[in-house]
Amino acid sequence: MDKLSCVVLAAGDGKRMKSSLPKVLCEVLFEPMLGWVLDAAESSGIRKIGVVTGSGADKVGAYLAARGEYSTFLQEQRLGTAHAVMQAEEFFKDDDFTLVLCGDAPFVTAEIIRKAFDYHKSEGNDITVISSGVDNPTGYGRIFRDGNGRFVGIVEEKDCTDEQRKITEINSGIYWFKSAKLCELLKQVENNNANGEFYLTDTVQICLENGGTVSRFYSADNSVALGANTRKGLMELNRVARDRVVDRLLDGGVEIPLCDGIIVGKNVAIGADTKILPNTIIKGDTTIGRGCTIGANSMIDNCTIGDNVVLNNVQAAESTVESGARVGPFVHIRPNSTIKSGVKIGDFVEVKNSVIGEKTSIAHLTYVGDSDVGSRVNFGCGVVTANYDGINKHRTVIGDNAFLGCNTNLIAPVKVGDNATTAAGSTITKDVPDNALAVERGQLRVRENWDKGIQRLNKKK
Ligand code: UD1
Ligand code: CA
Repeated sequence: MDKLSCVVLAAGDGKRMKSSLPKVLCEVLFEPMLGWVLDAAESSGIRKIGVVTGSGADKVGAYLAARGEYSTFLQEQRLGTAHAVMQAEEFFKDDDFTLVLCGDAPFVTAEIIRKAFDYHKSEGNDITVISSGVDNPTGYGRIFRDGNGRFVGIVEEKDCTDEQRKITEINSGIYWFKSAKLCELLKQVENNNANGEFYLTDTVQICLENGGTVSRFYSADNSVALGANTRKGLMELNRVARDRVVDRLLDGGVEIPLCDGIIVGKNVAIGADTKILPNTIIKGDTTIGRGCTIGANSMIDNCTIGDNVVLNNVQAAESTVESGARVGPFVHIRPNSTIKSGVKIGDFVEVKNSVIGEKTSIAHLTYVGDSDVGSRVNFGCGVVTANYDGINKHRTVIGDNAFLGCNTNLIAPVKVGDNATTAAGSTITKDVPDNALAVERGQLRVRENWDKGIQRLNKKK
């Protein structure tokens, strides 16, 4: 087995982004660009991944720590891409092959990484550069050939002659190296160029001049090279990524009448015959079944949604909605909730950290927090669980078939039994047994012949 390592360059600051975040944490479809790059490297099968950090190293380090186990190498001063790779030399020097990726080019794929590796090995190359053709090569290093068409080096934009600037085959910034050769070449890179930086791209020319073997692996899909240096560039990446996800969904039988305001994250899975309506954002590791209607105006983050679910004007996060549930409009489902099958939740309802049993109905203006609700429960309008005493949160338990009258206040911790009823307006402070009726009300007093209008008229006379 070959020993492979991957080094992701992520030390750049991205001044032109004018962001408080380091550039590699700027997001495409709600995921940092660095995350896209790591996903590709990991799904290509490489197990050993190191990241060179610098600008905002604490923030990048925190992101990486939350994501998994990565080695990080601090590049204190940004002296160029070759200098960045040098910081990780100890990490890869004893492996057979090293892949270098840029943390600011999110559309690299596992497929291109693997294909380029197979080519790199079968050619016995010291370096394989992944290149591509673009209409506008501005900002990229150009693939430079001699009079015989042989690849002789990469010339950076700033160092290009007017003639070279017209070349449209560009360097993606992704390379496979023989690791030992990379260490040898890094020692020879100098910084006598327009930027005064140590360019990783110079390893190509140095290698060739010393009789090494270098070739380019051409990617027909030029998005592998797409990166963002500005907010506008980032928006363009979002557009490209968004369109791709929408294409994938349409191919899978999802119905999107028009994609106005629809943004779906790249890890979202949606079943056939589900309809996504405008102004709907679906992100994180969300899975949605078949035959659902999601939107309009909904935001679904990290949820598991069954089949034939309706989410109309719903905000839902970190929760599960089982098949056949109908939710909305204007509903907020907060983390750690499970809405079981056949539940109906209507307008202005908030559910948090609760389980709502099968076929329960919460039709309007209700707060259910920290509760375990049975099946076929009916919530009248305005029921509130008082789950917080100012210091601690407490649970409310409601049995199957309970009927909660309008404006019932449930002062947790409290339990309402199976088939129990609470009268409208009651404040329930003690457990209600199964099959019981709980009424908590002041005496109603009625004064006959109390006509305010007549009294006022009499006063004016
Ligand atoms: C680089 C390539 C260029 C290629 C382009 C593709 C060089 C000299 N040029 O240019 O040929 O077409 O990528 O996108 O390599 N970084 C560090 N430390 C540094 C400098 C950069 O970690 O000292 C990181 C950046 O965070 C970034 C990556 O390396 O993720 C590339 O650096 P960047 O400055 O964006 O290089 P480009 O000018 O885009
Ligand atoms: Ca770049």
